[in-house]
Amino acid sequence: MKALTYQGSKRVKVETVPDPVLAADDDILLRVTATAICGSDLHIFRGKIPMVKDGDILGHEFMGVVEDAGRGVTNLRKGDRVVVPFVIACGQCYYCSKSLFAACETTNDGRGAILNKKAATPGAALFGYSHLYGGVPGGQAEFVRVPKANVGPIKVPDGLSDEQVLFLSDILPTGWQAAKNAQLGPGSSVAIFGAGPVGLMSALSARFLGADKIFMVDHHDYRLKFAQEAYGVIPINFDRDEDPAEIILKATQDHGVDATIDAVGFEAKGSAVETTLTTLKMEGSSGKALRQCIAATRRGGVISVPGVYAGFIHGFLFGDAFDKGLIFKMGQTHAQLYMPELLEHIASGKMKPEVIISHRMKLADAERGYQVFNDKEEDCRKVVLTP
Ligand SMILES: NC(=O)c1ccc[n+]([C@@H]2O[C@H](COP(=O)([O-])OP(=O)(O)OC[C@H]3O[C@@H](n4cnc5c(N)ncnc54)[C@H](O)[C@@H]3O)[C@@H](O)[C@H]2O)c1
Ligand SMILES: [Zn+2]
Ligand SMILES: [Zn+2]
Repeated sequence: MKALTYQGSKRVKVETVPDPVLAADDDILLRVTATAICGSDLHIFRGKIPMVKDGDILGHEFMGVVEDAGRGVTNLRKGDRVVVPFVIACGQCYYCSKSLFAACETTNDGRGAILNKKAATPGAALFGYSHLYGGVPGGQAEFVRVPKANVGPIKVPDGLSDEQVLFLSDILPTGWQAAKNAQLGPGSSVAIFGAGPVGLMSALSARFLGADKIFMVDHHDYRLKFAQEAYGVIPINFDRDEDPAEIILKATQDHGVDATIDAVGFEAKGSAVETTLTTLKMEGSSGKALRQCIAATRRGGVISVPGVYAGFIHGFLFGDAFDKGLIFKMGQTHAQLYMPELLEHIASGKMKPEVIISHRMKLADAERGYQVFNDKEEDCRKVVLTP
């Protein structure tokens, strides 16, 4: 089959690899009909995620048709159309029984990303996301093996197109969890840092939950403009306005917003010094976006972080966070928990996540898809690939 593989920093290529086969009783084999490139894939593409090997198949946002199912698969059969969550969870362990699917203790035989190994077991395995997260081949391919098929994949009603439901695999639940973690409700004010796909799905979710004022910070005007038109955000371009938090404070009688959402993560564009330290790995993550979030949030407010972070951050004003009595909520998305409810909102026409798609390509052109999405060319917001 054809699949998109990692070939070292800034190099991916579509090549012919062996077809996957069923390996456990509760596996399914999926014929992929649509798959997307995630901002998380860009961290890998830029060579920033350890333990990715040349030849690894990437991709964790995908859907398709069941080709074959193991004997232990109870709720799916050949021919079913499903969307697969990016998190692989057993559904039975200590964490799964608390619906903390991204913390599943049984699916990841890799090292995990946590530095203090005594502090926790590795979280769940993820599709196509390095050997830290289990080394499971991803879905930017013609076929993919899906482990734990009784827990993850969700059946899609016939009337819905692939594009309408594809983002249930990751970014829609991720934006939704970010908005829920931010405790947004009718009348809330929120500032979303990052106008990429995750920031946009956070804005969609914020609107859905009744948020009133939504600020959005980025430095790509085309992304901010889209968010303004689609979700009525108040755009702030940090190339022009160097201190977005100050603008947000001024607009909220110096209180700050009820919540901020950091949909940027550890590669946040910061000062030259901070970027250099992060590149040299003397700093785990750039703290630029997170510092702005602390400054822009009102006392007693919430900072919700869907953006991915790694290791330590210097200059993290924890004292300010304490003084303001802030709440922090973050982490990988417990996708399985939210998929059924979000599918209903799509089916009833209340959520249209597909409007953010800007690029449709064949899987064979995935290499160009990575380059365009990474370099923010052609006003790229989100790339969907079809085999
Ligand atoms: N928690 C999860 O389970 C989960 C799931 C999916 C994605 N993610 C993470 O979410 C983050 C965003 O993903 P995406 O697909 O939207 O990626 P993206 O790269 O398309 O978007 C990130 C945006 O942040 C902007 N940005 C950079 N520095 C900034 C700064 N200092 N302030 C404000 N904006 C800044 C960029 O210009 C870009 O538009 C990534 O870190 C990704 O790994 C997490
Ligand atoms: Zn993702
Ligand atoms: Zn589990």
